[in-house]
Amino acid sequence: PRYFALIPAAGVGARMAADGPKQYLTVGGKPMLRHALDAFLASPLIAHTYVVVSPEDGQIAAVLPPAGVTALRCGGATRMDSVLNALRALQGQVGENDMVLVHDAARPGLTPALIAKLIAGVADDPAGGLLALPVVDTVKRYTAAGAGGEGAANVATVPRDGLWLAQTPQMFSYALLARALGAATDAKAITDDASAVEALGLSPRLVEGHPRNLKVTLPADIRIAEMYLAAPQ
Ligand code: CTP
Ligand code: MG
Repeated sequence: PRYFALIPAAGVGARMAADGPKQYLTVGGKPMLRHALDAFLASPLIAHTYVVVSPEDGQIAAVLPPAGVTALRCGGATRMDSVLNALRALQGQVGENDMVLVHDAARPGLTPALIAKLIAGVADDPAGGLLALPVVDTVKRYTAAGAGGEGAANVATVPRDGLWLAQTPQMFSYALLARALGAATDAKAITDDASAVEALGLSPRLVEGHPRNLKVTLPADIRIAEMYLAAPQ
């Protein structure tokens, strides 16, 4: 198969609460989105890179490298919609059996080595796979108690054994990803591409990622991302 990168970049960055969408904030000397584009451009395994922006986006042209990336102006209301709209726009250009690596514009720490590790780790697994990190913290589950009175709650420790934090890229065949996202009904429950594939009863493969591939969500994450960008890969 050929390998294509697809970067959803149509979010508004509500939690970042910056002047504009976070993918255009300067991180480590260039727009955050450009780091992800450059990682895919530097990988010899990637046939072409697509980025999905909102139809109203006025900033993408200034961020695109001279060649190798195509912008699709069909972003939707949710990340899932943005990815699905892009897949539909690419019908015919990307083959059913080609592989699509979906990657958040908000993860500037991706490297060609991580891209290669994902592709090698998933190999020909028909369920696809994703980069992920084992959970190192102690995890608590909080639920408000039903009849315990005001402020009462149940708190329990969730054994972290077997728990992983999903990263991106997440890689699936075009046909599988289009089928999974097209079949998804509960958009709120689909917070990544793998969860849509899991809803079909398949188990995507977990490939160990790296902390440098963190998602920039809150203002403080920018400093952490810049620290990793300045460190050797
Ligand atoms: N995204 C998208 N289309 C949407 C929503 C999100 O393409 N309708 C993209 C974002 O641009 C980002 C990635 O999906 O690259 C991961 O989403 P997230 O980190 O949640 O970004 P935002 O949705 O922009 O941030 P927030 O949830 O804080 O508003
Ligand atoms: Mg979001």
